[in-house]
Amino acid sequence: MKREVDFLVIGSGLAGLSFALKVAPYGKVCLVSKTTLEETNTRYAQGGIAAVFDAGDSYEKHITDTLIAGDGLCDEMAVRMVVREAPEQIRQLIDWGAQFDRAGDGTFDLAREGGHSEHRILHHKDNTGFEIQRALSDMARRHPNIETLENHFAVDVITQHHLGRLVKRYHPDIECYGAYLLDIKTNKTFAVLSRVTMMATGGTGNLYTTTTNPRIATGDGIAMVYRAKGIIDNMEFIQFHPTSLYHPSDKPSYLISEAMRGFGAVLRTVDGREFMYKYDKRGSLAPRDVVARAIDNEMKVRGDEHVYLDATATSHDALKDHFPNIYEKCLRTGVDITKDYIPVIPAAHYQCGGIRVDMHGHSSINRLYAAGETTCTGLHGANRLASNSLLEAVVYANNAAKDAIEHFKEYIIPENIPEWNTEGTAHPEEMVLITQNYKELQQIMSNYVGIVRSNLRLKRAMDRLQIIYDETETLYAKTTLSLQLCELRNIINAAYLVIKSAQARHESIGLHYTIDYQHSKFPYQL
Ligand code: FAD
Ligand code: SIN
Repeated sequence: MKREVDFLVIGSGLAGLSFALKVAPYGKVCLVSKTTLEETNTRYAQGGIAAVFDAGDSYEKHITDTLIAGDGLCDEMAVRMVVREAPEQIRQLIDWGAQFDRAGDGTFDLAREGGHSEHRILHHKDNTGFEIQRALSDMARRHPNIETLENHFAVDVITQHHLGRLVKRYHPDIECYGAYLLDIKTNKTFAVLSRVTMMATGGTGNLYTTTTNPRIATGDGIAMVYRAKGIIDNMEFIQFHPTSLYHPSDKPSYLISEAMRGFGAVLRTVDGREFMYKYDKRGSLAPRDVVARAIDNEMKVRGDEHVYLDATATSHDALKDHFPNIYEKCLRTGVDITKDYIPVIPAAHYQCGGIRVDMHGHSSINRLYAAGETTCTGLHGANRLASNSLLEAVVYANNAAKDAIEHFKEYIIPENIPEWNTEGTAHPEEMVLITQNYKELQQIMSNYVGIVRSNLRLKRAMDRLQIIYDETETLYAKTTLSLQLCELRNIINAAYLVIKSAQARHESIGLHYTIDYQHSKFPYQL
């Protein structure tokens, strides 16, 4: 059973949805999501989306802030393009029905977050992502040219490899003809052939035991493109958010937005001491990588399970008004944020690296675009500035859509693409073979490849990963596909790329901190 479409879009977060909505007037779109359309990282975004709207702000300031955060590794052309495109793309989101909070005079109520020199974060209360996801999912569901396939898992992209030809990394002639999809309800795998494919599969948070990312963030797009011999970059730069709610039974960890520190909340050790000034003169308002490292150190040195975020000295009414969801969530765990300190820990939050794309969102594989967290565009360099990722997703989806609309009719789909081959495979007898390896991988990454790294820890991680890889590949060769097995395989692939990139970088820079090299922006010796 093969299907043919003009545009295959894998992923229904901001990147995938906005691409789908832009190309839909020009051809038939198949929009794929591995669970529901709504279950994405996008949906959980809290703080907002950064753009220059304030009269006292300027593109140059936003560009400079982004370049400083990126620690010298940003592509300045990409930064300039994204910052300049931002207001227009945000107006597009508003046209599609997303609402952002406004002040009494009708102007946007702009928040400020760590690393931003101005107020420039458009937000919808403390659940901006939910609002964007709601508006765009509704539009996509109603569009006559968009077929949505929920609970469908993209297993691999289709290239000349599936026609029996040799494909090589760094070779300019690789072409993508669509993807094999696993229908999770029927367990059948089939091909969707497309003139153009958009990879918008989001991040890799589940590499770690503690993450703000939902279960879907397993680096699938990165792994698929790597297997198809595409180019992947900057995977070592994983952003840990300093403040997720310490409530171990919660998966994912609930985010306590950085905007709370912007609002006046301060960090304290469990005995109530403010500790951030020991690490940075900006105290609790230091950039999130500095704060995450400081918290990690305090917890390790003191043997504590968490630190506290103290918002009790801020205006209680304003606190509840700005952060109604955080207030309610904490209350459900027994913490009244107007009176009690909030127990918090750092959590894996954002993958700065991924599928290398050019300004048009084009990957190194012909006919294959990528956008959003799964990509490496050059915008973030070695560290992402807060609230720049929703922005990156919508800007690159727009660029990719323009390019795809111009070219998709030139692309012919080969006729002889084979069906998915299930020969020699059977149902797995023991799911524990998959689930245990998944947990072990998360522990390896959390303990050896986390906020603070070393050459020795990275080597240990790679050695342990090799065992899990060998076991899983053996299992994969003889087992029918399942979501769990495919995700495990992909997350192993992503872990390999993170460790390999970290090992190749002989310095501490941006988010990659290793005790073997001094970090110029974090002089405190750990
Ligand atoms: P996602 O929104 O993650 O969507 C990925 C999609 O891909 C999903 O539909 C998923 O089902 C699908 N998918 C994945 N693999 C497969 C597969 N194999 N087959 C089929 N489908 C697949 N950024 C900001 O700029 N501002 C913020 O305030 C902010 N707050 C955040 C708060 C939290 C708690 C989190 C987790 C992130 C936050 N971020 C924020 C980051 C931002 O939300 C994400 O980077 C962004 O939403 C990613 O969008 P995306 O479209 O690339 O991917
Ligand atoms: C937050 O609200 O703290 C998250 C912002 C981001 O990740 O960009």
